[in-house]
Amino acid sequence: MYFSSAVALGLLTTAIEGTAVLRFGCSQITVERLDPLVNPGVTPSPHIHQVVGGNAFAASIASTDVSQIANCTTCSFSEDKSNYWTANMYFKARNGTYKRVPQIPNRYLDGEVGGMTVYYTSAYDNSKVTAFKPGFRMLAGYADRRTDGGVTKWNAICFRCYNAKNFGGDNAAPCSDTTVDSVELPTKACPGGMRTTVRFPTCWDGVNLDSPDHMTHVSYPESGTFETSGKCPSTHPVKLPQLMFEVIWDTSAFNDKAEWPADGSQPFVFSQGDNTGFGQHGDYVFGWEGDVLQKAMDANCFGATCSALKSQSFTDANNCAIRKTVNEDVDGWLTDIPGSMPMKEKRFAA
Ligand SMILES: *[C@@H]1O[C@H](CO)[C@@H](O)[C@H](O)[C@H]1NC(C)=O
Ligand SMILES: *[C@@H]1O[C@H](CO)[C@@H](O)[C@H](O)[C@H]1NC(C)=O
Repeated sequence: MYFSSAVALGLLTTAIEGTAVLRFGCSQITVERLDPLVNPGVTPSPHIHQVVGGNAFAASIASTDVSQIANCTTCSFSEDKSNYWTANMYFKARNGTYKRVPQIPNRYLDGEVGGMTVYYTSAYDNSKVTAFKPGFRMLAGYADRRTDGGVTKWNAICFRCYNAKNFGGDNAAPCSDTTVDSVELPTKACPGGMRTTVRFPTCWDGVNLDSPDHMTHVSYPESGTFETSGKCPSTHPVKLPQLMFEVIWDTSAFNDKAEWPADGSQPFVFSQGDNTGFGQHGDYVFGWEGDVLQKAMDANCFGATCSALKSQSFTDANNCAIRKTVNEDVDGWLTDIPGSMPMKEKRFAA
């Protein structure tokens, strides 16, 4: 396997020959209890999400060409009307109240507000990837999982614990450095905050745009990983670009151990009632205009600019907005996480 030192370093300052790596910021478009993929039409949905991307986001999104419904996007590529979302992180103080953990921009993406970093990577072995089609959607990770295993086989979910501000300790590919990476929520304070990584499946059945569990129409490689150019299974022969999320959680305001649980356990919880982190998951509704994503993959674009794509400033991206559907406080010191999701401890595996 060839794995560029630029990617290994996570710094992305040097292009990788023959491989497209789009890496761009998307600001928050909403934080509320909506889930058009898993709980379409349900207001409020069971747990809260932080959502970025196009303004077609709503309690349900028609299974059609989303780029035709949305007028704007919070992403810096203005033709990307997709939606991307994850659970929210909350801090549970010793007195039992909860506070939402803010998200901050990733390195080199200043101007993004409260959102996440989105990556699309073409194949490392220079084979062709086929961009997603209008109406495509999928889910990565298992919200109900509370033990190690499952998608961690493909390094699909992990945390990085930054040992200092400005991404201290960020010197290895995501999920690869056991001195800073873990599948479980870090058990110690992270002075520079922590990062969520969610990698999506990269093999498609070539037919279905979605499936009842939003997963079985796609697959991870049958052996190895996307990074090692693992082969797609015969059931899912079409190689997709790798979609990856990074969310930078600014936990630095919550690192006072005097506020942590008296037994010294770590105080961060995900909004689906997960204080382990094994339930990290991400949701995707494809919404790029026309075939521009395919063009960007074929052009080996790199980073947050691409000659095949139109860009916008964060000033413009941050003007894209939707009206909230669910009216509840998500940001105060709360007596419970929105939806009062029961805290499921390490009891069962998905
Ligand atoms: C997009 O713009 C049109 C015309 O201004 C408007 O009617 C429509 O509601 C907008 N769509 C969204 C999702 O805001
Ligand atoms: C609980 O603790 C937090 C963190 O110290 C504090 O800001 C908040 O006011 C406290 N709430 C109550 C009800 O004591």
